[in-house]
Order: sequence, then structure tokens, then C-alpha cells
Amino acid sequence: MGALHNLISIHDLTRDEIDLILQRAAEMEEIAVTRSKLLNGRIMACLFFEPSTRTRLSFESAMLRLGGSVLGFADVGVSSAGGKGETLADTIRTVERYADVIVMRHPLDGSARVAAEFSNRPVINAGSGAEEHPTQALLDLYSIQKMKGTIDGLNISLCGDLKYGRTVHSLAMALIEYDVKITLAAPEQLQMKPSIIQVMKEAGLTVVEVDNIDDAINEADVVYMTRIQKERFPDIREYDAVRGRFRLKREDVEQMPDDAIILHPLPRVDELDPEIDSLPQARYFDQVEAGVVTRMAILDLILN
Ligand code: NCD
Repeated sequence: MGALHNLISIHDLTRDEIDLILQRAAEMEEIAVTRSKLLNGRIMACLFFEPSTRTRLSFESAMLRLGGSVLGFADVGVSSAGGKGETLADTIRTVERYADVIVMRHPLDGSARVAAEFSNRPVINAGSGAEEHPTQALLDLYSIQKMKGTIDGLNISLCGDLKYGRTVHSLAMALIEYDVKITLAAPEQLQMKPSIIQVMKEAGLTVVEVDNIDDAINEADVVYMTRIQKERFPDIREYDAVRGRFRLKREDVEQMPDDAIILHPLPRVDELDPEIDSLPQARYFDQVEAGVVTRMAILDLILN
């Protein structure tokens, strides 16, 4: 297998590479506790042009647990890109001289690809516009594998904002590598792009589209909820028309089998009633934990 350089899209990974990352993530469970020097002396730059809690902090935690160091900005306003109008290309040409790997989140589709073109150092996409979020997809796969023991054979429902949600785009593309049945549940205005659905069907997946949450949870092994991406709506009235439409409540979850799991990339707004947090199906905070080991595995594979 060729060495992994950039991670811009989930399409950059072969099935073998996905398997390797999931396997390495499992090995990282112990190393995450004991810590290690695998990336001793290496420096990771985090450039976050958009808000983040989990993605940036779990990347930093992953790097620190592997003995590396971190620098960067989490508020574009304090950088020259936000404060002085520096181009993305110039920011990248600068930061690649300070760090061994660049982790970047940016509001524009295609931004991670552009950054990789200007960088001699590996670039990891931590979210590019509404387009992709490949490391989230990997931690989602890892979570499903760990919690359910397998990915093949499962009924997986992707719910919420399938139009603007980048996590579900990357996850859907990753799932074409598996033998799964997918239910896509979204308000009519927020359905998954036809091009992605076509790729899934061509890969042999059974794909069902529904416009309500009830039809998505009945037979699901995995219910993957997402936030309506308010910040990506061109017109706030369109957001107001769909907000609050998909909400998982206690009575819904109580109908699900005990071994079904509810995941969510977080942050949540109102789509997961806090009342369900204590139910056995609610696993989204365990999923957060999977972010650290998965990102340890990614950093290790790219830098070693
Ligand atoms: C997601 C994102 O930024 O796309 N958050 C995350 O990385 N866990 C989901 C979201 O913002 O809704």
C-alpha cells in the first residue's frame, strides 16, 4: 500500500486503508491511556476558519497523546486571513514551514484540496464547506464497528440535514465499501444529492429515501442524526421552514431495540431531546471518545 499523504476526501482512501485506520484506532485505545512517543518532536498545525469543539480538540489531544506538539488558530479573526485579507494559498505556504502536518477546517467547498496543492506537508481536511469531513466518517465507522461488532449487514439510517451536512456526505461515501442497507431520512428540501445516491446504488447498496423520522428508526441498527446546518442556508426563511422537524424523543427511542445505537457528530441543537441521553441507545458521547483514537491512527499513518 502506498503511503497516505493527504486526507482530503474519503475517496482518497482505499478499502484496505480504511481497514488499516480502523485497526490502528483499536490499537490506539491502549496507547491513548498510556501515552507514547510515536510522534515525538513532530508538529501539527490546526487552522480552523470555522467554529469547532470536538474536531480541533480531539486532533490536539490525539497529537499530544502521541508525544507531538500543536500550534494554530481556532478563530480566523486573529489570523491574517481573517484580519488582513491574506489568501488561503499564502496562509498555507507560510504554515507548511512551521509544521509537519496541517489540519484545516474551512467554510468553502474545495478549500482542503486547494490547501493541499499549496502545501508540501500533508493536509488533513477537518471539514470543507458542506462537502466533506473524512475524519469524522472514519470515527463514525470506527464507532459503529466497535459498538455493533460489525458494519456489514447493518441497517443504517442517516437523518436530518443530508443536503448541507458534510459528515453524512463523507459517511455515505465511506459506506459504499460495506454491505449495508441505507435509509436516508430528511425533509424534502434537505435530501441527499442525487449524485451521491447514485454512487451508493451503483455500489450495490439498498437505498431508501423517506421524509420523516418514524420510517427511519423502525428497523435501524444505527440511527445517525445530524444538525440542520443553519449557517449554510442561503435564506434564513428556508431554515425556519425545516427547523425542529426532526427530533428524536424518548417515546421514539423506547420503541427501538436496546442494541440499536444513536450516533450524532455533535453539536446538537434540538434534534436529540436531552431526555434520551440516559437511554442505552444513546451513544453519541462514546462516539466523541472514538474521535481521539481514530485521529491518533490517522496522524500516525500519515506521519510515520
Ligand atoms: C460537524 C461539522 O463540523 O460538520 N461537527 C463535527 O465535526 N463533529 C457537524 C455539525 O457541525 O453539525
